[in-house]
Formats: sequence, C-alpha cells, structure tokens
Amino acid sequence: MPQPQPRLYTDLAWLWPHLSPPEHYTAEAAHLDTLLTEHLGPGTESTPHRILELGAGGGHTLVHLDTRGGRGGRHHTVAADLSAEMLAHASGLIPGLETHAADMRTMRPDRPDQPPFDAVLIHDAVDYLLTEDDLKQTFAAARAHLRPGGLLFVAPTYLKETFADNEVADDGTTVNGDQLTYFTYVHDPDPSDTTFEMILLYLIRNLTTRKVELIEDRHTLGLFPYETWTTLMEQAGFTVQSIDPTEDAAWELFLGKLP
Ligand SMILES: C[S@@+](CC[C@H](N)C(=O)[O-])C[C@H]1O[C@@H](n2cnc3c(N)ncnc32)[C@H](O)[C@@H]1O
Repeated sequence: MPQPQPRLYTDLAWLWPHLSPPEHYTAEAAHLDTLLTEHLGPGTESTPHRILELGAGGGHTLVHLDTRGGRGGRHHTVAADLSAEMLAHASGLIPGLETHAADMRTMRPDRPDQPPFDAVLIHDAVDYLLTEDDLKQTFAAARAHLRPGGLLFVAPTYLKETFADNEVADDGTTVNGDQLTYFTYVHDPDPSDTTFEMILLYLIRNLTTRKVELIEDRHTLGLFPYETWTTLMEQAGFTVQSIDPTEDAAWELFLGKLP
C-alpha cells in the first residue's frame, strides 16, 4: 500500500536543499560516473549515456552527472519521483530536465519517441520500499526502461547486516534568516519485519520573534539482508555485483547488468 509521503517531501520540501545539499552527493556521483565509463564506455558529447533516476528527489545526484547541471557532468538524465515539490527542486538545478511524477514501482516508458535508457539509478529513495514485493515491482519497472546490456544501480542506505540501531545525528544551518537545527534518529521497532523508522525533528527558530517551532516527521523505511537484494535483482534478470565503497563514497551499492 502506498504510504503517506513524509513531510520532508511535501509541505516541508523547502528544507531539502538545506538538510542534504548537492555537495553531500558529490563523491557518490563521481563513483557512479567512474562505473558508467567502466561498464558502458565514456559516452560522447553527441551520444551521452542516458540515465533515469527513480526517486530522484531534488536532483542532488543528477546535478553532478548531467551535462546541464553546471558541474562538469557528462550524461543526459531524466528524473522520476513521487513528489512534485522535490522534482521542482531538481528542475531548478538542471535546466531543461525532463521530470516524471511517478511511483518507481509502477512507472513504465511512455515516450516512444525516445530510446531506452543506458542506466537506471535508484539511490537513497530505494529506502522507501518496504516489502519484497515493492523491490520486485521496482526491479521489473527498472528493467522495462533499460536497453539490452543496460545497468541498474541500487544504493540502499542500510542492509539488515549493517543497520545502526538507535543512531542519532544532528546538524544545523540558517535558512532565510531563520535558524534550522535538526536531529535524525533511526531505530528498529520490530527486528522480525522488513522495516525500520527514521524520525526527523526540526527546530526552526525565527530570529525576529525568537520563538522556536518544533516539527516531528516520521519516515518508515525498508531493511533487507544482502541476499534479498541480490536474489531479487537476479530474479528480475540482472547479473549482480556488489560494489566496494571508495574512500569518499561509503555506500551500499549493487550493480545489475542486463544481458
Ligand atoms: C532521500 S529523497 C531522495 C533524494 C535524492 N537522492 C536527491 O538527490 O535529492 C527520497 C525520495 O524518494 C521519493 N520516493 C519515495 N517513495 C517513492 C516511490 N515509491 N516512487 C518514487 N519516488 C519515491 C521521495 O518522494 C523523495 O523525493
């Protein structure tokens, strides 16, 4: 069943560029760029690799990869996400970006005028898939967008084996003259199921009135063991390899390749 979208991706989406700016994604994007070249060749200016990101959010990964992002990107990208507010951020960062308001589990190609994609990326948005059935649907959807030999990158924040229960992080910044302080807390209320919870607390201090608004935003996220990821990607038709993190890009990354 579709979950109600967290506030961070709806009425509080204006916070996203301040909580997790594009710079947070630089190392992962560089790692992706290296892998794209390694597996597909360098691409050319006239025929750049075509990449679709499912759950592209604010485009903070894509802005590094796209030729139009102003950061030396070498690819042509398309963004899909459930949240119109997040896609609006992405369009602001990448001029001319094609966006689709769509669920990654069910999105199918709808542009017969365009060739299939060379690669599909599902970065941290994959955390929002809660069941094995969600994963199966999403891998089938990704496959439908890819050409033969195409690549699927899947990057969950945690595996069941690496989950850091009871972890807290905090940070702060200034937004339009207000002070924003936020805490992120993750915990697993039921280790026997395939989900965990991330609770975000935002403290927004109006520097004129000196009053502080406290907002709670709960996210339910998926948690699957290594074997579930690789098995379900293989069942969807991909040959799968687990990619070792680089020094800068410490992430879980599965790379699937179609025959
Ligand atoms: C952490 S944000 C992604 C941020 C993104 N990596 C960026 O570069 O800005 C997670 C995103 O997943 C999206 N999302 C969650 N479930 C989804 C689904 N089933 N289909 C498509 N997008 C989904 C949310 O709307 C949100 O934008």
